[in-house]
Amino acid sequence: MQEPTTGQRVPGGRSYTTCGELRLADAGRRVTLKGWVHRRRDHGGLIFLDLRDRYGITQVVANPEHSPEAHAVADRVRSEYVLAVHGQVVPRPEGTANPSMATGDIEVLADAIEVLNPAKPLPFPIHEEAPVDEALRLEFRYLDLRRPRMQRNILLRHQVIRFIREYLDARDFVEIETPMLIKSTPEGARDYVVPSRIFPGQFYALPQSPQQLKQLLMVAGFDRYYQIARCMRDEDLRADRQPEFTQLDLEMSFVDMEDILTLIEGLYTELFERFATKPLQQKPFPRLTFAEAMLRYGSDKPDLRFGLEISDVSELVAESQFSVFRNAVAQGGVVRGLAAPGFASATRSQLDGLTEIARSFGAKGLVWLALQHENGQLSARSPVAKYLSQTELESMAARLGGKPGDLLLLVADQPDVAANVLGRLRLHLGRELKLINEHVHAFCWVVDPPLFEWNDEEGRWEAMHHPFTAPRDEDVPLLESAPNHVRAKAYDLVADGYELGTGSIRIHQRDVQNAIFRIMGYDQPEIERRFGHLLRAFEYGAPPHGGMAPGIDRTVMILAGEDSIRDVIAFPKNQRAQDLMLGAPSPLDDRQLRELHIQVVLPEEEHTPARS
Ligand code: AMO
Ligand code: AMP
Repeated sequence: MQEPTTGQRVPGGRSYTTCGELRLADAGRRVTLKGWVHRRRDHGGLIFLDLRDRYGITQVVANPEHSPEAHAVADRVRSEYVLAVHGQVVPRPEGTANPSMATGDIEVLADAIEVLNPAKPLPFPIHEEAPVDEALRLEFRYLDLRRPRMQRNILLRHQVIRFIREYLDARDFVEIETPMLIKSTPEGARDYVVPSRIFPGQFYALPQSPQQLKQLLMVAGFDRYYQIARCMRDEDLRADRQPEFTQLDLEMSFVDMEDILTLIEGLYTELFERFATKPLQQKPFPRLTFAEAMLRYGSDKPDLRFGLEISDVSELVAESQFSVFRNAVAQGGVVRGLAAPGFASATRSQLDGLTEIARSFGAKGLVWLALQHENGQLSARSPVAKYLSQTELESMAARLGGKPGDLLLLVADQPDVAANVLGRLRLHLGRELKLINEHVHAFCWVVDPPLFEWNDEEGRWEAMHHPFTAPRDEDVPLLESAPNHVRAKAYDLVADGYELGTGSIRIHQRDVQNAIFRIMGYDQPEIERRFGHLLRAFEYGAPPHGGMAPGIDRTVMILAGEDSIRDVIAFPKNQRAQDLMLGAPSPLDDRQLRELHIQVVLPEEEHTPARS
């Protein structure tokens, strides 16, 4: 909460003293403090008020012998009353200083206390860190934000954004705003839309990101753009997802991937060295290809704060007696696994729990082998041990780095299923077995992902990142013949298992962009209708360009040590995209609906209103 308080010394600065600034050297000064009653203690005679503002807390003393009027007011104030206290700074009496408070050497002896506004009893305490139901916190967010932890988070966010601006300013970036009322952008989520009053039946879309606009700014010649950009996506929410969130959106011309990685790695290194409470595990950030990340960690956002790596044992068990393994490999699948250190002691219910997790992510089953040392050789306790030869057991244990006392877990399936299931098990075991080093931040880059992924539901290729991402030059010949083998010039920044940001080198030639849309199954009229503006711009001298968009909310969440981005956003929505404080969404009145030419047809079951 401490910030330099230069406010009083510049024109327009504040005219009163903050609750965080008084020290022993100020003894004797007459001051006016303004703030909230954090705590009130009546010592029968003396009344102590802890007065709080965002800079800190100062103890105020009301002494009936010094000022009966001030004492009378202090007698009736309650928590969270807003006061102006006029008084004198005095050293605290011998032995009563509080070294844990920045202002703990002094107190302010009140001459007069004004009640600027009283406060009703609070729905939850502000001066305690006690857990409070989140719905209540969100409904009374202005009170929740008074709590020290939230004040710290919001101020940290401000400092982070200011730091980012300075870093980019020093590198010739220009901050440019882009519009909120735009046309649908394909970032993979549903659009939030706004009806047009002037054009009945037509809608604006709110940006899922400024992606196309920043590319158009490159065409316009602003070779280094950034924006602290608001993005809106109607998607399923999680702890690290909000319907409205903020990106550090940036784009650069005449760059290759290396330039962008260098810029962003420099920014995040400085940012974390300045604001994080834990050191970086590794500098420079390790780089993994997407294929490597999926193989070794079963995730495109690997948490590198612990090992527990996954390995492929397919060729070791391709001829196995155990038909689950043999058949999987014969059908083009894989057998992969990991070795949980010291977990051969897992109980039946723990093993069932692991199998349950595996099944919930699509595995057909889970093989476990509790390794032990028996009669001078490696053996395994497992329902399937009898199907595995000694050579198979030993070679698998060696490949997975398992020794007696460890638990091997194996999944046989298609590569993507095996990767995902083992990736989830890895995270689960990392937490369960306390393997995660919580004392560091582990960054990495994940590069060269596939350009396309197959959308089974719609039976077509879709862009894995977004359709403006350039293919790697050497893979361009495969575009038509083998889209699944084309890698993208794209990169993700990952920290502690969170995807912090993604970016790519873009396509800047009309014909290539058009070909990509065609592969994605759009016909020419639809391409023109949806993306004509971009394709046209590419005909007028578009520079090669690329960029990235790290998420500000996730960045601040990790820096603040929080588990949810809701705790670093001033006014977030809940898990159902409601604003519980404002009561949004809410119905429109008939006149508004008529003006917008909208007729509301509610589904059968009544919708619950935002505020129930
Ligand atoms: P992408 O969609 O991957 O890329 O988003 C980039 C980063 O934005 C953050 N983010 C979110 N944060 C909170 N809530 C959400 N719902 C949410 N969705 C995304 C994440 C994510 O890594 N235009 C491209 C970037 C580019 O290519 O330059 C884009 O938006 O931190
Ligand atoms: P089953 O042949 O279905 O009786 O399975 C025998 C054992 O292999 C059980 O412990 C299953 O959980 C496990 N299992 C079955 N299918 C798979 C698979 N695809 N991958 C890993 N283990 C499996």
